[in-house]
Amino acid sequence: MKKSIKTMAAFIFSAALAAVITTVPADGASTMIKGDINRDDIVSVSDIVILKNHILGKYGLNDAQTIAADVNGDCTVDSLDVAVIQDMILQGMDKVPVGTWIGDCFGGKRYFFFDNGAVTVTDPTVGTTDIYELEITGELVVFRDKKSGRELTAFITWTDALSFVLKWENGSAESFRYFCTDRLSADEFLSGRWVTSEGRTFEISGLSGKLTEKDGTVSRFEYAPRGEDIVFHFGKTENRTPGKIVHNDSMHFTVTWKDESSERFTRQEIEVRDGITYVNGILIANKTYALPADYNPGKILPEPQSAFDTMKTDAAKEGIYLSIVSGFRSYTYQGQLYSSYVNRDGKAAADTYSARAGHSEHQTGLAMDINNAGSGFNNTKEAKWLAANCVKYGFIIRYPLGKEDITGYQYESWHIRYLGRELAKEVADSGLTLEEFLSIDSKYNT
Ligand code: DAL
Ligand code: ZN
Repeated sequence: MKKSIKTMAAFIFSAALAAVITTVPADGASTMIKGDINRDDIVSVSDIVILKNHILGKYGLNDAQTIAADVNGDCTVDSLDVAVIQDMILQGMDKVPVGTWIGDCFGGKRYFFFDNGAVTVTDPTVGTTDIYELEITGELVVFRDKKSGRELTAFITWTDALSFVLKWENGSAESFRYFCTDRLSADEFLSGRWVTSEGRTFEISGLSGKLTEKDGTVSRFEYAPRGEDIVFHFGKTENRTPGKIVHNDSMHFTVTWKDESSERFTRQEIEVRDGITYVNGILIANKTYALPADYNPGKILPEPQSAFDTMKTDAAKEGIYLSIVSGFRSYTYQGQLYSSYVNRDGKAAADTYSARAGHSEHQTGLAMDINNAGSGFNNTKEAKWLAANCVKYGFIIRYPLGKEDITGYQYESWHIRYLGRELAKEVADSGLTLEEFLSIDSKYNT
């Protein structure tokens, strides 16, 4: 869906009432434009007329108007404020914004890149970018769609060097503040939920979002992606935190902040559908995330089965013979298996190598044990071939050596999990377990 500035205007119009309710705080103070005494979202000669009449004692101001009228901030409304408002109007005449500005109306944000008579409007929520011709004559701003020739007009009021307000022809106001000099590229948006190596959570929609610190403190930010550079703006424009960004894979990027410290970001969208947990769309069954008892595909799913068949054929050509010794296991069967191990070795020991009912990957239909589900398989030529080649077919060795504390299980050279070729490669290239890759736990809560 493409949202043009025209449909945007229609939306502004229909949402204008809602905007009044949702974005103007009760005291009107934080959205107030200094100098806009009659509160029509533009600073114009009529504000000067009101102010002069007030100074002459002909006109009383209410509290909000008094705050708006004290433009020089000296706690007195007098002729000095008239002079400042006159300057504001004169300075604003024909002034053209340059670079990227954030347009904010009724809570939504758009990014306007002003460059040489053209404006590129980026809508991060939709991910679209549209280009308009720009004409500014005095207070009047005209956006012209090159293709259709249609025009949208607004009045501009500069509130300071880094902010202005556009009052659109339908009466709604959109406040703008300066963001950065460069054009933003839609494919660099980092939309989604990210957890970081510092224990912070960034929930990003388009180019703005919410940051939850490790201690639960919440703040808002905007960010500008610019190739390798990234700038986060926390709270006010002045509070900029620049860094270098490296995109590691589809689920990770690393930011090196100005003080040289690095923070790794991991995409983590957790969704539970029909009792099944998906992290970034990947079905997870481990000690933390259980499957419902009635989840029962009945066999290895067709895609992993066919991937195994191909792998088996290719391996055979090299004199390596692979077979599945355990594939799908139902909830009930896994429970029986686990109980038998508990009876034999005790619960603590069983938990290091066998999953409780509902917690086994074998119940997913995506996992399988190859040739010999025991340490006798380790270091065989088949195990070596499997470790070196399974990723090409979309599998990973799910419980690697030395990662017992993370996966929750002892090393299993024979247990492979299907992820699909692209994802399996990303996980294998990262050198991480699936838990580390997704920044999730594998721990029973009892
Ligand atoms: N042996 C693996 C951990 C299972 O029981 O699913
Ligand atoms: Zn297994």
